Amino acid sequence: MFDPLDLYTPNEVKIESSQFNLGKSELLQERQHGMEANEDEKQSDEEDNIIDNLDLPSVKYAPPEVILCVLILLRPDRQVNFNQETDKNKSVLGICKSHGLEPYLLERLLNWYTEEWPNKRLNSVEKICNKIPMLRFMISKQLLLGYYTAVLKKYNNYDGPNIRTVQQLLKETSSRISENCGRTAQPSIVRYFELKHLDNAISLYEPSLTADNLGWKTWGSSLILSQSLVDYLHTTDVKSRMNRHTKEIKVLELGSGTGLVGLSWASKWKELYGTDNIEIFVTDLPEIVTNLKKNVSLNNLQGFVQAEILDWTNPLDFIDKFGHENDFDVILIADPIYSPQHPEWVVNMISKFLAPSGVCHLEIPLRAKYAKEREILKSLLRDNNFKVVKEAHSEGMDDWGIVDYLYRQIIRN
Ligand SMILES: C[S@@+](CC[C@H](N)C(=O)[O-])C[C@H]1O[C@@H](n2cnc3c(N)ncnc32)[C@H](O)[C@@H]1O
Repeated sequence: MFDPLDLYTPNEVKIESSQFNLGKSELLQERQHGMEANEDEKQSDEEDNIIDNLDLPSVKYAPPEVILCVLILLRPDRQVNFNQETDKNKSVLGICKSHGLEPYLLERLLNWYTEEWPNKRLNSVEKICNKIPMLRFMISKQLLLGYYTAVLKKYNNYDGPNIRTVQQLLKETSSRISENCGRTAQPSIVRYFELKHLDNAISLYEPSLTADNLGWKTWGSSLILSQSLVDYLHTTDVKSRMNRHTKEIKVLELGSGTGLVGLSWASKWKELYGTDNIEIFVTDLPEIVTNLKKNVSLNNLQGFVQAEILDWTNPLDFIDKFGHENDFDVILIADPIYSPQHPEWVVNMISKFLAPSGVCHLEIPLRAKYAKEREILKSLLRDNNFKVVKEAHSEGMDDWGIVDYLYRQIIRN
């Protein structure tokens, strides 16, 4: 199993971490020195609202559970719709909940700042919970990395009585380090997607991107497509429209990845009509489907949504198991075109599975690199007797910033 610590060798780190090992008197001296430089600062010293790296517990003197509590408070915020949610305006309880912080650890840290190492800037749970998480935005990344480095150096070969706390401490420290290394080096995360007109947020587990598995990450197209599909279901009586033709509606998502599109559709459908008279599949390659199943359960859709293998190069295994050739009323696809073979495979899948009166909803990012593949997709759709009945451009977010997207609604001619 991948361990973020494998990425990291404490000896090679060049960041200055010595100040995190300073003793109390040395720290006070250091602060005193700064204060002497500016007479005005003297008055606001202990009462000052703002904290900095010198307010973090000394790595040399603080016990591991005190440092562990700080590291948990420095966890990144929940990610909602590709944005970071902030702790601003949250209660102490809310902050503990969102950071997964146990009350006994918070009490231990409070004791540190009130009894063992008094610090008026951090002498209440409110101050601790409001100020420490904000340090991520107040001081430089280098200073925080220096703190984490000092923790690793001290505890990497620890063999004392607090081994379980120290193991947790090392795990948190290595996670804080890897979170600063970009999405591809980050540890596994759970992301949240809040859609308008959908009662519950969709939670998606994303494993660490250790292999070339693009389906272990949620991509921007799927958020755009999910919102338009939820809006559509919210404003249109799809069920009574469909009942004219069919008793049961069948929905298939191709290349689901973490499953946002299929799970959003399923959640909205369940909210509106329950789980009868619908069969819904989210599908992908074998190495992606295990995580996909996990996300089905995470959103309480097990027994309703089926996560199954459907390889575009070998759909026969799926057909042998479930049938449904030319039988799906709705096909959902987000971001399936990123190699020269993809246009042909994707059009083959639509040809194989779309019912004569079915509708395919496709969302693709307009990446400059794949302009040629998008053109091929367009002509293959035409050559295979498909008609694009609706097209819409939009702009949306991904982990790497703003991206342009294109939606196409496709039916058989
Ligand atoms: C860029 S990701 C998009 C994932 C998801 N739809 C999203 O937007 O978040 C492309 C997806 O297509 C899947 N895929 C690629 N080739 C495939 C194939 N031959 N058969 C089935 N799925 C495939 C990948 O595993 C991946 O999950």
